[in-house]
Amino acid sequence: MKAAVLYEYNEPLVIEEVELDPPKAGEVQVKTGAAGVCRSDLHFMKGQARTILPAVLGHEASGTVEAVGEGVTTVKPGDRIILSFVPNCGRCQYCTTGRPNLCDLHASTAGTLFDGTMRLHKGDQRISHFGKVACFAEHMVVPEAGCIPVSEDVPMEVACLIGCSVTTGVGAAVLNAQITPGSSVAVVGCGGVGLNVIQGARLMNASKVIAVDINEGALEFATKFGATDSVNAKHEDPVARVKELTGGQGADYTFEVFGSGETVETAYAMARKGGTCTVVGIAPQGDQANIEAVTLVRSEKVLKGTYYGSARCHVDMPRIVDMYQSGKLSIDDIVTRRYSLDDINEAYEDLDNIGIGRGVIVFP
Ligand SMILES: NC(=O)c1ccc[n+]([C@@H]2O[C@H](COP(=O)([O-])OP(=O)(O)OC[C@H]3O[C@@H](n4cnc5c(N)ncnc54)[C@H](O)[C@@H]3O)[C@@H](O)[C@H]2O)c1
Ligand SMILES: [Zn+2]
Ligand SMILES: [Zn+2]
Repeated sequence: MKAAVLYEYNEPLVIEEVELDPPKAGEVQVKTGAAGVCRSDLHFMKGQARTILPAVLGHEASGTVEAVGEGVTTVKPGDRIILSFVPNCGRCQYCTTGRPNLCDLHASTAGTLFDGTMRLHKGDQRISHFGKVACFAEHMVVPEAGCIPVSEDVPMEVACLIGCSVTTGVGAAVLNAQITPGSSVAVVGCGGVGLNVIQGARLMNASKVIAVDINEGALEFATKFGATDSVNAKHEDPVARVKELTGGQGADYTFEVFGSGETVETAYAMARKGGTCTVVGIAPQGDQANIEAVTLVRSEKVLKGTYYGSARCHVDMPRIVDMYQSGKLSIDDIVTRRYSLDDINEAYEDLDNIGIGRGVIVFP
């Protein structure tokens, strides 16, 4: 099958034929339907985060089940599914205390399937499975726990975005920050994930949702998803402007959705006394945020992170599908660019250069 393989950091992905072994017990083979162009993969391409190389990246995905390994009972060939990039074991301390997004077994077997081996290879050269999804390929072999069934009438593009950006963004607002009605919210970084934090804030009846970005086009686009005000951090001091827009106080809830120490400082600084700053963006490894320690005490600010929107995929993804179907979340409109797998390197250049909404790789 055709796949996009990362051999070296800071080198283009190589589009080539690779082999995929059939699913073992508890695994599922999936025909890829759509794959989202998320910034998290770019961090690995740039070497800002590390994985086992060579690797097939891609973690925001949907597809159709083609075959199942021994013992698989929850999906069957022909089923349409959303993929989770944190398939969870169901037994570790995090899974059993309601935090499956932090599953220990998933983390300790990063780049491989749960048994520590890979189904992807090119001859003798093993190739790792990013997020146990590896959707920058025509087919995937994934754990059964990573398959969330979805109905026929949800387009593949929409299902794929629920696999990461929608669940992460909406989850950050609803499940992690738990925004209360009437609050003020500031979102630093309004790309694929940030737009969904904005939608999540709208869903929670925030009164003011301030979009902060350095891309004027992204700010304009954000107003379609519920942003009430916008701040271009390239042209004005975003902290001063957010304070000005919130009666001199700062916002009740702020979100960092770009991924750098510097934007974490910005998002933290624009939270009011007693406010909460939630970090969604994945900063490069080693990048630091300088927070004046005493402000945590004197202003009782809360600084916290959220992984996968703190979602429990098997419960929260079907709920997100319901909200999409009842018109409470707009997902179709987030897709602004479509590519074939052959054009994936261009898709990632566009993410950095154009960056409005989400690009999606579509599979015939
Ligand atoms: N926590 C998680 O589980 C999780 C899941 C998915 C993605 N992420 C991370 O979330 C981040 C956003 O991902 P994305 O796919 O939406 O990326 P994106 O590229 O689509 O969006 C990032 C946005 O940030 C803006 N930006 C850049 N510098 C800025 C600055 N100084 N101030 C304000 N805005 C700035 C860009 O213009 C862009 O609009 C990435 O770091 C990604 O890895 C985290
Ligand atoms: Zn993602
Ligand atoms: Zn677990």
